[in-house]
Amino acid sequence: MTQIRRIILTEDEMPRQWYNLAADVNCPPFMSPAGPVPPEAWAPVFPMNLVEQEYSKQRWIDIPEEILSLLSRWRPAPMHRAYALEAALGTPARIYYKNESLSPGGSHKPNTAVAQAWYNKQAGTKKLTTETGAGQWGSALAYACSLIGLECKVFMVRVSFNQKPLPKLMMQTWGATCVASPSLETQAGRNVLDQDPESPGSLGIAISEAIEAAVTDPTGQTKYSLGSVLNHVMLHQTIIGLEAKKQLEKVGERLPDIVIGCAGGGSNFAGLSFPFVLDKIHGAKMEIIPVEPASCPTLTRAPYVYDHGDNAKMTPLVAMHSLGHNFIPAPIHAGGLRYHGMSPLVSKAVVDGLMSPRAINQLECYSAGMLFARTEGIIPAPESCHAIAATIQEAKKAKEEGKEKVILFNLSGHGMFDLLGYEKFMNGQLFDYELPQEIINKNHEALAGYPMP
Ligand SMILES: Cc1ncc(COP(=O)(O)O)c(C=O)c1O
Repeated sequence: MTQIRRIILTEDEMPRQWYNLAADVNCPPFMSPAGPVPPEAWAPVFPMNLVEQEYSKQRWIDIPEEILSLLSRWRPAPMHRAYALEAALGTPARIYYKNESLSPGGSHKPNTAVAQAWYNKQAGTKKLTTETGAGQWGSALAYACSLIGLECKVFMVRVSFNQKPLPKLMMQTWGATCVASPSLETQAGRNVLDQDPESPGSLGIAISEAIEAAVTDPTGQTKYSLGSVLNHVMLHQTIIGLEAKKQLEKVGERLPDIVIGCAGGGSNFAGLSFPFVLDKIHGAKMEIIPVEPASCPTLTRAPYVYDHGDNAKMTPLVAMHSLGHNFIPAPIHAGGLRYHGMSPLVSKAVVDGLMSPRAINQLECYSAGMLFARTEGIIPAPESCHAIAATIQEAKKAKEEGKEKVILFNLSGHGMFDLLGYEKFMNGQLFDYELPQEIINKNHEALAGYPMP
């Protein structure tokens, strides 16, 4: 096999279709008190072309030429063979990673941001609202809107807004407005602040605010855009895994034994793994591991239920693993992994036994990120550190077992905006936090009487 450190595809080799796992994994429908939610019910929130994708069961969906052209500004993303990390671990495993940190915003998020902005523009939308945790999604949408000519307003979870001032400046540079959530601008935000003026916010609250701001806009030309969780977002991200397959083939590598990604709402993990899930469905032996923080253990400890995607219960009920829509996560430094729910497709794939989720504590993740920075050279986002920590666990296991395993993980973003988190880690100011069971139980009281998937 050729010894290549960076496996590069040309623009011509970019995949021309997205893979839709909804063709192969059957999720229960969105529900409201009146029963299953029909596509038209989403019209005030999303443009119908994206709603069609959300409900689609078509296995392969063409990527419009204009979107391919927008993506080609930074794609195809390189795949790296992590020789230096392998050497440091002394592992016989061959470790590969997709490098999504080279996009304009520094993460995988622009893959769906440009697609969503493009479909909205086609449908006549003038302005998009959204939420953001760590800031990566908000800045990706700000970038996409600036490319395509849409206004953009971002509600950023207050704890991250305060921990991380730079993403806000990035959003403003791309012409978006960014406010801390909970804010006084929406009823949903005011309700939370009435209860707790010091609320650190949550993704669930910020989603409520962004949806409210879109649906109450008197012009009717504002829509809401979500950076993760929903099927159409997972779909757009599958370009990651489809490229990865071509890249492994290019160097004569076999299908991976283990595929790993960090999971907040599930999109970067889904993007890398879904095309490989298709192989697994067809008999390939493979372990597919979504990794989450022990402080927000949605897939590993929360039940599979019907719950709202947001705190103010504006969204229909979604069948997913959920810590409860009232969940307020601990302020760990991986803002993108602090969501109470999980992609319905990822949740169902876990229920169906296609994936084996894992929760890892913050300190182990930062240690993994430090080793990665000092071997491979890239400082990873704290979210991506979760994938690296699981990769290291697996590479050590391969060493113990003396097995030449092929491990593929997603480097979902760089950590250049997260250096204050690294500083705290290096100064010994970060702590592990495992979510107490009583909190999970308490939050589930709010789901009493909801249907079960
Ligand atoms: C770098 C990075 N990785 C991962 C995530 C988690 O999101 P998802 O699970 O949708 O990929 C985020 C979210 O903000 C992120 O910024």
